[in-house]
Parts: sequence; structure tokens; C-alpha cells
Amino acid sequence: MIGDSNTAERIDEYPDPDLRVHAKPFLKWAGGKRKLIPRLKTIYPDELKTRRIANYFEPFLGSGAIFLDIVQNYSVSNAFLSDVNEDLILTYQVVQKDVFKLIDRLMKYESSFLRLNREERNIYFYGLRWKFNSRRPHIDFKNYSERWIVRAAQNIFINKTCFNGLYRVNSKGDFNSAVGDYKNPRICDADNLIRVSNILANADIRVASFQEMADKISAEDFVYFDPPYRPLKSSSFVSYSATKFGDREQIKLSKIFHSLDNLGTKLMLSNSDPASVNPGDDFFDRLYSRFNIRRIPAPRFINSKAECRGCVSEIVVTNY
Ligand SMILES: C[S@@+](CC[C@H](N)C(=O)[O-])C[C@H]1O[C@@H](n2cnc3c(N)ncnc32)[C@H](O)[C@@H]1O
Repeated sequence: MIGDSNTAERIDEYPDPDLRVHAKPFLKWAGGKRKLIPRLKTIYPDELKTRRIANYFEPFLGSGAIFLDIVQNYSVSNAFLSDVNEDLILTYQVVQKDVFKLIDRLMKYESSFLRLNREERNIYFYGLRWKFNSRRPHIDFKNYSERWIVRAAQNIFINKTCFNGLYRVNSKGDFNSAVGDYKNPRICDADNLIRVSNILANADIRVASFQEMADKISAEDFVYFDPPYRPLKSSSFVSYSATKFGDREQIKLSKIFHSLDNLGTKLMLSNSDPASVNPGDDFFDRLYSRFNIRRIPAPRFINSKAECRGCVSEIVVTNY
């Protein structure tokens, strides 16, 4: 069972009676689903509640908010977690395998950073970001190495101290978000990292695009798809081909959704609801016309004047 691993040694080292519960995402992530859990929970398939799901798949993992909710509240035999972001998956693998060394390193970053003044913090942040970027070509993302520990710590440090926790890279793949302005950022939440590590102990975590995962999925499984959202802009404004995950990828994903539905797999998918901004845009209604489409309020836009004022929704598609 996921989370039921041999963790006695770790638990002794960090005695905490509640070690495995309430683990939360350890990274801030654009499109993270944490705020939507209460709503999405009501849409999970009944089979999850009646223990008839064998494996859980999350092929657009990000911060893993739904994965963490599911494994802490329901019983699944295995979890298959994947994403195309190599540094994200590297960091998960370090949390899974070497959490104590990771914590040691992060604590050093935290104590060095927090005692600096603002100007010194900027220098520290950009220096570390530079190291993170310049090491990238030398990292073998395919083979786990102890050297990944420093990189994972750098990734978490940058995530907790950059502007809005936004993971953004330029065309060369260099991380380029600016420093954020936080008084006392919590860089190392050791208890949470240990909880997540214990939960991840038996999970299959890999770099993969969503297509690569499709043939590993079978009828008894549950898949949550949370791809990059289709941009919410008027159709005259957007060139979708410029985005890495454009309409072509959305269509490929819908084909996989249809073929897994034919297999009998339980499927749930989130996306933006372009129709809530541009009523003529029925892109997803057409792609998923065979399935149940719910519209739920999108928390991230509620205060955003640019997009809409509280009226933007997201879609949740299910085949059950
Ligand atoms: C909306 S985010 C997922 C957020 C996640 N559910 C959470 O709670 O944080 C979309 C994720 O898809 C990943 N991604 C983008 N293109 C992908 C692809 N072709 N295959 C797999 N993952 C991809 C991104 O790296 C990103 O982490």
C-alpha cells in the first residue's frame, strides 16, 4: 500500500505520532489544486471510496495536491506520478530517497538567508539561481545520484523565495523568475518533507510526457489529468501554437481520455473554462461531449481584474 512502507527507522529518528497525516505540497506551483480539494473531493469516483481502485495515476503532477489528498484519505495499491519537468521530478525523487540529507542542506540555506538584509538576500538568491542554471547541462536526469540532493535543495529554496513561487524558464531552459519579497519565507518545513517522503516511499515517480504513461494504465485504475490550462483570452488575441501545450496537445490528451474510457478506467480531468470568458468558445464542450462536464469556480481568478471579476470557472470532466 502506498504510504505503508518500512518507515520505522525514519519514524524513530523524528518521533511524531502524526507523521503520515496532513502532508501537503512542498512546492508552490502554478495551477496547484490545493484550494480546490474540497470541491474536487466530491467528484472523486465512488470506487475510490469502496477500495476498488488498484492504481492511482497523476501524469501532470506539479505540486501533487490531489495525489496527497487521495493517498492520505483512500486506499490505493500504487501511485504512478509523472511530469515532463525534469527538475520537479528530480526533487520528488530526492524527497523520496534522501529526505534527511535534503533537510540538512535546506536548513543551511534557510539559516544563511534569513539573517541577511534585503540587498544581501537578493545577491544570495541570484547567486544560487545562477549555480542552479549553470549546473543544469551537467545533470544526468536519468540516473539517481547523491549529487541530486544539492540540486533539489536549490530548487526548493528558489521556489520558496522567488516571486510568487512561479516556476518559469527561458528558451534555454534557464530558471528566470525574479526574487520575491518575503519577510520570513519558510524554506525548510522538515516535518512536512518527512511526511511526504514517507508517503512517496513506494510511488513510481518519473519524467514522462502524458502520452508515455497511457499504456501503463488499466481498467481498475483512476487517473487525474491536470494539464497546463488552455489560455483564457479572446480568440483573436491568442496564438496557441506559441504555447508549449497548445490546442494540439489538448486534442491528443482528449484522444487518450477517450481510449482509456473505452478500457473502463475511471478518469477525471481539470482545465480552464474558456467559455466562461468567451461564450462562443466551446472547445472543451466539443472535445469531451461524451462525458460529464462540471463547471466550478476558479479560485485563482477571483481577485484578478485583468481576466474577470469572480465569474471565471474551470471545468472538471469525468467519465463516471
Ligand atoms: C496545471 S499543472 C499541474 C498542477 C498540479 N495538479 C498541482 O496540484 O500542483 C500542469 C503540469 O503539467 C506539466 N506538463 C506540461 N506539459 C506536459 C506534458 N506534455 N506531459 C506531462 N506533463 C506536462 C507541467 O510541468 C506542470 O507541472
